[in-house]
Amino acid sequence: MGSEQGLKLVRLDEDGIDLNFRDDVLAGLRQDPKAVPARWFYDEAGSRLFEEITRLPEYYPTRAEKEILSTRGAEFAELIGPGRAVVEFGSGSSVKTPLLLRAIDPAAYVPLDISGDFLRASAAELAAKFPGLPVYPVEADFNREVELPGAVAGMPKLGFFPGSTIGNMVARTAVDLLRVMRATLGENSQLLIGMDLIKDVAVLEAAYDDASGVTARFNLNLAVRINCELGGTIPVDALRHVARWNDDYARIEMHLEATRPIAFEVAGEAFAMAAGETIHTENSHKFDRRMANVLLLAGGWTPVKRWTDGEGRFSLILADATRPRGAP
Ligand code: AVI
Repeated sequence: MGSEQGLKLVRLDEDGIDLNFRDDVLAGLRQDPKAVPARWFYDEAGSRLFEEITRLPEYYPTRAEKEILSTRGAEFAELIGPGRAVVEFGSGSSVKTPLLLRAIDPAAYVPLDISGDFLRASAAELAAKFPGLPVYPVEADFNREVELPGAVAGMPKLGFFPGSTIGNMVARTAVDLLRVMRATLGENSQLLIGMDLIKDVAVLEAAYDDASGVTARFNLNLAVRINCELGGTIPVDALRHVARWNDDYARIEMHLEATRPIAFEVAGEAFAMAAGETIHTENSHKFDRRMANVLLLAGGWTPVKRWTDGEGRFSLILADATRPRGAP
């Protein structure tokens, strides 16, 4: 089963090795079954491959979410209203965020990201598109409560977490994150969150195993990255990309499967895989309306409104910070 942890700030040794990456990979490869957290996909090559994935004909989530954001502006304006500070968890997408900002007339935009480079680039891009909108980028690990800039302290907040990134977490981690978001955003805040929907297994599996092999390269790039950065000797040609639906957990799982028995080293430690054995690299959970509602409620958010795209593939949910009240 894939393991995940909150993002930790970067720790480099004297050779420039990312110690968090090394520790996660070694711990994951010692496990049975083997697993490496999906967050390590996103080096430069991995981030570029992910961008390519979002444009694939099979990968519908990005297009479906953009469709909702570009057609429901009047409803966002009515339910969210003007004057909120929009706090985006993760570096802003150059397309999705402007669609929201244009619809709701916010008082400020606060992108949060652990990577200063992405953060500065997306903040500058947004600021250029919205002259007059105060932009306060914050370099922070949003898996922990973040102190927002004093300038937005008095403003009601709208958290924005698009892309169904919440689906890459197991339920316990997802609930922890939702609760931390609520603590960061405060009373009277709202959250607009993307959640991908359960659908035909063939459609889901194709979205994660496209005909042109981009998702396979994205998955295999993790092994390439381990070899480059951690002195690994993984025979990448003996691994194949696998994406399969796990119905019990309502998720697509991505694995790297050994096509023959292999032995390799990572950071000086020896590992072996039998033919057919896998390294579990990602979970992408899918939701129905009730599952999404229960997850949000467990995280301290009361769902207010739910939108889906025209083909009913993806949902965007607006939720209010749940006010403490008596039972039931
Ligand atoms: C980032 N995340 C929401 C993507 C997803 O759909 O789970 C990552 C991804 N993995 C393979 N394709 C896309």
